[in-house]
Amino acid sequence: MNTDFLIIGSGISGLNFALQAAKKGQVTLITKKKLIDSNTNFAQGGIAAVLDKTDNIERHMEDSLKAGAYHNNKKALKFMIKNSKSAIKKLIELGVKFEEKNGELQLTKEGGHSTKRIAYIGDFTGHEIEKILIKEVLSNPQIRIFEDCFALKLIKSNTSCDGAIIIHKNTIKSIFASNTTLATGGIGQVYKHTTNPHIATADGIAMGIEIGAKLKDMEFIQFHPTALAKNTKPKFLISETVRGEGAKLVNSKGEYFMQKLHPLKDLAPRDIIAKEIFEQLKFGPVYLDIRHKSKKFLTQRFPKIYKRLKDFKISMEKDLIPVTPAAHYLCGGIQTNLNGQTCIPHLFCFGESSGTEVHGANRLASNSLLEALVFSNQIAKSLKKRNISRTSISLPKHINLSPTQSKKIKYLKSKIQNIMWKYAGISRNLDKIQKKGLPSIEKIIEELEKFKGANQTLQESKNLALCAKTIMKAALKRKESLGCHQVVEAFSSNFS
Ligand code: SIN
Repeated sequence: MNTDFLIIGSGISGLNFALQAAKKGQVTLITKKKLIDSNTNFAQGGIAAVLDKTDNIERHMEDSLKAGAYHNNKKALKFMIKNSKSAIKKLIELGVKFEEKNGELQLTKEGGHSTKRIAYIGDFTGHEIEKILIKEVLSNPQIRIFEDCFALKLIKSNTSCDGAIIIHKNTIKSIFASNTTLATGGIGQVYKHTTNPHIATADGIAMGIEIGAKLKDMEFIQFHPTALAKNTKPKFLISETVRGEGAKLVNSKGEYFMQKLHPLKDLAPRDIIAKEIFEQLKFGPVYLDIRHKSKKFLTQRFPKIYKRLKDFKISMEKDLIPVTPAAHYLCGGIQTNLNGQTCIPHLFCFGESSGTEVHGANRLASNSLLEALVFSNQIAKSLKKRNISRTSISLPKHINLSPTQSKKIKYLKSKIQNIMWKYAGISRNLDKIQKKGLPSIEKIIEELEKFKGANQTLQESKNLALCAKTIMKAALKRKESLGCHQVVEAFSSNFS
């Protein structure tokens, strides 16, 4: 198959990029499950942007820099924030209905924001945006869609990325493309506890690594402070906007512990709150308390969260909500410029898998959908169609896994998740990463390499293992704490 633009992934950046690219040529969008299955679909909070008269670009920048421990790339950050208002406007034009009152956008707050600047739709902002973008993409004759289509690896010629090898309906095929875009989203499944759906298996990151793409800031994994502390996979998110509407964190002794710890109290940046909850959990459960709000307000403002908590017999207006941190977002990724170009010609990357450097060492809440939108709007600036010479490539053979093989791969996957949670989680001991964590992951990589042939489940585990190794190697290089990379101990000579 040939196409002008091959897009891998159907979250906000993949869908939005598809709509832009369709103005320039023929688009093929592939996604490994259904179109709606993406991290975006789970995004509760909203999109941060300079929308209020009292706000300005400098203020949004300063909040992002503070949250990111000033590790952000200022040029990229300014570019994103400068384009934030027009990105929201474009979504509204497409039919996205953000909350409004008397014709004015309603704005909310999350951690690290010094003012209300987040446009939202209830507690299901991502889902609404996905719905509208999917409708647009489906009705665009220039866009061809393949669901249940898994990208196995990228095709690389001497000079550029020329498409991808895919698994579709148990068959291996190649798609040659003038331009290939990774919009593959997050990596949350690298960890035992995550808010990310099962599909977030670091596929784009791994494919990028395999063909030599440069990566950036891979040690900065953001842990969301308030996932519901119940035994579900993935963990259910209790949006930070719940704290934005007045919820407070309380420990098992009944102490509202964030009050004295940070000037922004319960709305301090995420890395600070996640670390504090992690410490508090050593002494007993931690809860969110929003009992001062009425049932009417809570059911209107947080319909999905309210309903989900009811499944656990928790009434937000009456009960405390048990919370725990969980892996949520990769702040780094495949390094790109302002146009989404990676170091490999004709390979682009947008959204969570990209490393635009806007987030620094810890992303400011609700800057992620913004990043995905703004950068994927940039298509006109850099794209050129071209004729590619189709080299003959040998395709691997597809295999079906036997029950024993499936069991073994499942076991190795959960081992990766446990190792990463233990050694490369919220608090990191670099000695332990070097002597225990990394060698264990390398051993799993060897085990996975023993399986021959191509299979989606197998490849997802390989992708997780490669990404885990990359995170640990990046963590080892950064000897001191910064943002989400919290070093409790660097290297000691008497490690046992
Ligand atoms: C949330 O609603 O708390 C998540 C929003 C985000 O990750 O920016």
